[in-house]
Amino acid sequence: MTMDSDATINDGYKERLEQVRACIEKRLDELLPESGNERDLVALAMRESTLAPGKRMRPILLMLTAEGLGHDGTWGLDLGCAVEMIHAASLVLDDMPCMDNASLRRGRPTVHLKFGEDIAILTAIALLSRAFGVIAAISDLAPTIRTQLVEVAANAVGMRGLVRGQFQDLRDGQQSRRPEEIAVTNNLKTGVLFGAIVDMAWLISSAEDSVRPMLQTFAMELGQAFQMYDDLRDTCPGSEKDQGKDVGKSTFVSLYGEDKVRQQLFVHLCNAELSLRQVFGDSGLIADYMRMVFKQAALTH
Ligand code: IPE
Ligand code: IPE
Ligand code: MG
Ligand code: MG
Ligand code: MG
Repeated sequence: MTMDSDATINDGYKERLEQVRACIEKRLDELLPESGNERDLVALAMRESTLAPGKRMRPILLMLTAEGLGHDGTWGLDLGCAVEMIHAASLVLDDMPCMDNASLRRGRPTVHLKFGEDIAILTAIALLSRAFGVIAAISDLAPTIRTQLVEVAANAVGMRGLVRGQFQDLRDGQQSRRPEEIAVTNNLKTGVLFGAIVDMAWLISSAEDSVRPMLQTFAMELGQAFQMYDDLRDTCPGSEKDQGKDVGKSTFVSLYGEDKVRQQLFVHLCNAELSLRQVFGDSGLIADYMRMVFKQAALTH
């Protein structure tokens, strides 16, 4: 994989991605509760935190993967929106004073600053329950598949995923950690949700059993790369969120320095692309998308 330019990504593909993104925005808007009443602060905060301009990387990845695996229905869209709500909930909590104490998210004041900490907690809970409700309500899908989708999401949120990753990050991140420990935490807080995304895509398509572990390897490599990318961005000014939140925390950047982390990030991206090739052959749609997301990492060289 090269990260130097996206010249190979043609306009048709970019247009297609914009269509996918527009579908996601529209569907999120429909799935979130209405906030006609301005006193309905939780509904308002659910909408504002989720609809604020994020990359939508997770729903896009889910839809591209499902499509690549032969799924031609609309289940991927609702699943992607559910995952985006889970992600938004994790960001609302992550930003709270008891966690990262952040003030800016997606270019806007964080939910606890705008609405209060009480509303932030309730918003995260409401987003998580809405996400599970959306998954459970997907129609025309075999009940056994739906149950598995709910289980995959539950694992990604709980003690096998985000919650444990966040706990380790907050508590163990304060002291020096071995590289393997940082990698485990990064996998739990970031990689596991990518793992859930590709597993959901696999579950709704009729792809072969053999591709499932390959997709998981892809997701774990992507998770490692993405958390490194995020940690590198912590020192970049002009971002849509606070900088300097990782000062004093043990991360790969504090352990190895930025240059080495860029090299490692690149290795993880190459490994991710290798797994994609095993699944999709020469069709590089997801690899192209990854290149677009990560191209900023190359700009900081
Ligand atoms: C930020 O995720 C949190 C991490 C897992 C590193 P994103 O960088 O995907 O955030 P949005 O969705 O674009 O706001
Ligand atoms: C948090 O990692 C990842 C989550 C799952 C919430 P960070 O704390 O580094 O994410 P940002 O930098 O605030 O987006
Ligand atoms: Mg954090
Ligand atoms: Mg944070
Ligand atoms: Mg970060």
